Amino acid sequence: MADDIVLRDVTDDDLPIFFGQQLDPDANYMAAFTSRDPSDRDAFMAHWAKIRADETITNRTVVYDGQVAGSVASFEDFGQLEVTYWLGREFWGRGIATRALTAFLEYQTTRPIYARAAKDNAASLRVLQKCGFVITGEDKGYANARGQVIEEYLLTLAADAETPAHESE
Ligand SMILES: CC(C)(COP(=O)(O)OP(=O)(O)OC[C@H]1O[C@@H](n2cnc3c(N)ncnc32)[C@H](O)[C@@H]1OP(=O)(O)O)[C@@H](O)C(=O)NCCC(=O)NCCS
Repeated sequence: MADDIVLRDVTDDDLPIFFGQQLDPDANYMAAFTSRDPSDRDAFMAHWAKIRADETITNRTVVYDGQVAGSVASFEDFGQLEVTYWLGREFWGRGIATRALTAFLEYQTTRPIYARAAKDNAASLRVLQKCGFVITGEDKGYANARGQVIEEYLLTLAADAETPAHESE
């Protein structure tokens, strides 16, 4: 892992930064399955209070070059552990998500572990595949950010998958 990326516990001071990052319309379109109203600060803060208190959820802040670049997390969905991540737009396109997820997967070692991405979220699908995830299914659901039902891929990082990051080098 590059020295310029660090994962650490989420602090109260990170939350206003995350809130600003998740306001971006293009990021919402990509992520698709977002909160109903990303501009609702109270709902955002209540959501974070809930997920920080939930012992089944692992949240980490992604720090790039001393700046809060975003977050990465795992959470349980119907008994399966899934990963998710979100970076501020100014941090996109520099390999940060790939390196942050790689680091997270060294820390969160449960396998298999799963992920979902809208079928047209090419960046997220690429991040997952570079970290060893493979597409293992598909689903559809109502995407708040798009106001319609859309299709998504389900991805799996198997217990015997190659160590993340190797493919990215
Ligand atoms: C998805 C996201 C985390 C990607 O972060 P990132 O730091 O830019 O990703 P990386 O730089 O690690 O690169 C990912 C790969 O995707 C590629 N990529 C980036 N944007 C792309 C795009 N729009 N179309 C196709 N490929 C793209 C990159 O070229 C790179 O592949 P490469 O190394 O083979 O060139 C970021 O865009 C984001 O936070 N989006 C909003 C939230 C979101 O979608 N979260 C995921 C929900 S499933």
